[in-house]
Amino acid sequence: MPAIVIIGAQWGDEGKGKATDLLGSRIDYVVKFNGGNNAGHTVVIGNQKYALHLLPSGILTEGVIPVISNGVVIDIEVLFHELEALTARGVDVSRLRVSANAHIITHYHRTLDKVTERFLGKKQIGTTGRGIGPAYADKINRVGIRIQDLFDENILRQKVEAALDQKNHLLVKVYNRRAISADEIVANLLSYAERLRPMVADTGLELNLALDAGKTVLFEGGQATMLDVDHGTYPFVTSSNSTAGGASTGSGIGPGRIERVIGIVKAYTTRVGAGPFPTELFDESGEFLRSAGFEFGTTTGRPRRTGWYDAPIARYSARINGVTDFVMTKLDVLTGLATIPVCVAYEVDGKRVEEVPVSQSDFHHAVPIYEEFPGWTEDITSVREFEDLPATAQSYVLAIEAMSGSRISAIGVGPGRDAIIVRHDLLG
Ligand code: GDP
Ligand code: IMO
Ligand code: MG
Repeated sequence: MPAIVIIGAQWGDEGKGKATDLLGSRIDYVVKFNGGNNAGHTVVIGNQKYALHLLPSGILTEGVIPVISNGVVIDIEVLFHELEALTARGVDVSRLRVSANAHIITHYHRTLDKVTERFLGKKQIGTTGRGIGPAYADKINRVGIRIQDLFDENILRQKVEAALDQKNHLLVKVYNRRAISADEIVANLLSYAERLRPMVADTGLELNLALDAGKTVLFEGGQATMLDVDHGTYPFVTSSNSTAGGASTGSGIGPGRIERVIGIVKAYTTRVGAGPFPTELFDESGEFLRSAGFEFGTTTGRPRRTGWYDAPIARYSARINGVTDFVMTKLDVLTGLATIPVCVAYEVDGKRVEEVPVSQSDFHHAVPIYEEFPGWTEDITSVREFEDLPATAQSYVLAIEAMSGSRISAIGVGPGRDAIIVRHDLLG
């Protein structure tokens, strides 16, 4: 099985980290191809809990080569902080490869992220404040700083000065902030150059050679389909392509190499930050999902918005990503509910709509049409075979599978590494 992609099929935090970790021992490379330290993946191994942001979750598996490829935006300070924290806990991070073409998030990106959000007031996106949007904006605007620029001080200085030229006008005259000194930025970036040098590589070449040699490469998406800058609920999205196509452009491997696309869905839905969310709950059911599922952001600690499973969104994700398998996580969280509503379609302006509406305004006021499924009360966290689940839990999964556009190949029944029911081998 050469190239496999894991993506979030909803609004993030579906449990991608756990799914990556599950495949860890059977893969050779794990690649983070989009986003940056806006991501937050919690992986539970035994009694140890790891929170990863910039590093791919596969770094926790011995022997796997972790790669940060060109599509990622890197806050170098955060990178070293995360590497040091893992090293202190005995994780071997020495194999990490970092693309020379990846872009850098620096002080002015973080500042701009925060001031633009503040200026948006009530209309803010609710970003993670990590400088993600401004760093990608610079990349597209062709004033970004890349990892390879750290090794040519002259070029680095020219680029930082060019990037700051306009930004300082904006910061001082519009946002009433102090100007940022190019010297400070250059000195800060150069201070990391020698430590970074041994990790920097032509990762596109390495990954293609690995695939040629028959190695298994797992591409681990950050964020999710509904946060994708092209296919998500724009403008309430992140600034990268977090869908499966991003794995190709974000790493330099041809799309034809990808054989499997694994979409991760929660058995319900959550979202962090602003933007439309048709099945959102504002009552005690929403509170139940938040506390039972411990739905608080790994990155910002914000309480996640919660709602019922939305089948049109799963179908949309299946389509946009070419999902071959779904992994459904957190089925255990639904234990104890008398009935479980599932959104099967929407009502928009009095009409039934089966698919996610293309118009954002329609999606904003889409009202979910629910079908109710009977719940279960038995503890399912130690179940490892599908047939051993309560009959109503089996029916819930099968009903969702029939509506979601692809088979559900694995089911999460708890946060731990082994708390999973595998129905179809994800790599077979
Ligand atoms: P990611 O960003 O997609 O990697 O997901 P996060 O790590 O942000 O959020 C998923 C959370 O759910 C983490 O705290 C996981 O430990 C937890 N989790 C994953 N799968 C399951 C599951 O099947 N059941 C339960 N109860 N928790 C799970
Ligand atoms: P993982 O990988 C959930 C959301 C933010 C905000 C929007 C834009 O853990 O699933 P950004 O800082 O990216 O410019 O913020 O995207 N967001 C996430 N929500 N999980 C994530 O990552 C997210 N990364 C960004 O809350 O609404
Ligand atoms: Mg997360």
